[in-house]
Amino acid sequence: MQKFDKMKVIYGNKELELPVLHGTEGADCVEISSFEKELNLYTFDPAFLSTASCHSKITFIDGDKGILAHRGYPIEALAGHRTFLETFFLLFTGKKHEDDYPNFEIFKKIAMDNLKIDEKTKSIITSFNKDDHPMAILMAAFSYIASKNCLSWNPNDLEQVRKTLIKISGEFLACVITVYRYIKGKSLEIKITPHFTETICLNMFDEEHFRANKKIVESVFNKLFVLHADHEQNASTSVLRITASTEVNPYASIVAGIATLWGPLHGGANEAVIDMLNGINSVEDVPSYIAKVKTKEVKLMGFGHRVYKNYDPRALLIKDTCDTVLETFQHVGEKEKLFIARELEKQAMNDEYFTSRKLFPNVDFYSGIIYKALDVPTQFFTAMFAGARVAGWCSQMYEFYSEPRKISRPRQLYIGEKIK
Ligand code: SDX
Repeated sequence: MQKFDKMKVIYGNKELELPVLHGTEGADCVEISSFEKELNLYTFDPAFLSTASCHSKITFIDGDKGILAHRGYPIEALAGHRTFLETFFLLFTGKKHEDDYPNFEIFKKIAMDNLKIDEKTKSIITSFNKDDHPMAILMAAFSYIASKNCLSWNPNDLEQVRKTLIKISGEFLACVITVYRYIKGKSLEIKITPHFTETICLNMFDEEHFRANKKIVESVFNKLFVLHADHEQNASTSVLRITASTEVNPYASIVAGIATLWGPLHGGANEAVIDMLNGINSVEDVPSYIAKVKTKEVKLMGFGHRVYKNYDPRALLIKDTCDTVLETFQHVGEKEKLFIARELEKQAMNDEYFTSRKLFPNVDFYSGIIYKALDVPTQFFTAMFAGARVAGWCSQMYEFYSEPRKISRPRQLYIGEKIK
């Protein structure tokens, strides 16, 4: 499609010329901030279907082609080839760790030195019941940590912002690990080893499982966390940027991100997929479930996406990992779920209802099966997603604070009572 540098808007007897901003990939943007001043008009786009909230260098998604890239590197070159920490460094700094090893070592040290939480935060976690939702526990624990860090926060000291955001990743993963250990009835002491991936896996998965299958568990952890690390301006990252724009401390912005990710239409979908699969007894029951989806009685959770109108590249990479994990951990129950999930996908992909709406499996469709095989409680799946997404949240916040900024404050179309 031909590109232009400006757009002309005619409104009544007024004519307004608007600049068109050109990206390095994907759609260009028409800059409309002068609408109110020049035409006394707002644009109306409630769910941001055609609205860009910012510019960013971190992640690019081409929904039609099913492309996802971080700092220009296709997800296929990262997942299965880079660790989660290496990918986090790439997201945060824009550099590959091997091209900036001294800073990567400092980055790793800050994250690992902060893989701990104090006794008071632990007491907040244990004040919940073991069957309370982990996302609520995480929000409470991180709100307490926010209260301890709010006075020292200076959003205009970029070096402090950088260090704080790397520190937050360690503290947040320590909270995720501690909540996991609490609901599994394990000791809350986090065993630290010299290696980041090993430390996370040793404390986050069943220790016996891990020690017997160290290589596989570490490779699956890195692959899943790389695939969930960032996804441009999704709902929780957008909320995080809006919250950060008020200059509140970044711990509070993370709490806002956790709350948003929890929703079943967003990060909570991985838990909802397993609940859906649990409700389908066998492959023979798949056609009746598909029928209920088509009458809109239920949704096919883990399917559809606001941006991807093609296969979510993350879903493809996770689907391939299912076999390896299920082979290793011989979970019969999960195997049956995988067969049902595959049959759901096969029937949906051959059904005009789904293909006409461009509904494909997304990142959440197969991930829960792997977490189940790793003995992760279903209610904890979204906490795992949050543990990975803290990399994207901190990277996007660092980019936000590195640039000129204003508080986000959308307008509205008022349709209420006329003024009396
Ligand atoms: C994530 O934004 C991101 O990048 C998010 C994420 C990330 O990494 O941060 O990728 C993570 O959140 C993935 C999405 C996980 N959510 C789910 O799997 C929940 C199930 N999916 C849907 O609820 C839905 O697809 C959304 C919320 C994901 C997208 O919704 P949209 O873009 O607003 O699309 P829509 O609701 O307008 O749907 C268009 C049509 C409708 O039918 P019609 O009105 O045209 O008849 O498709 C139908 C919808 O009813 N539809 C579905 C469906 N998703 C959309 N029908 C059945 N099952 C579904 N899952």
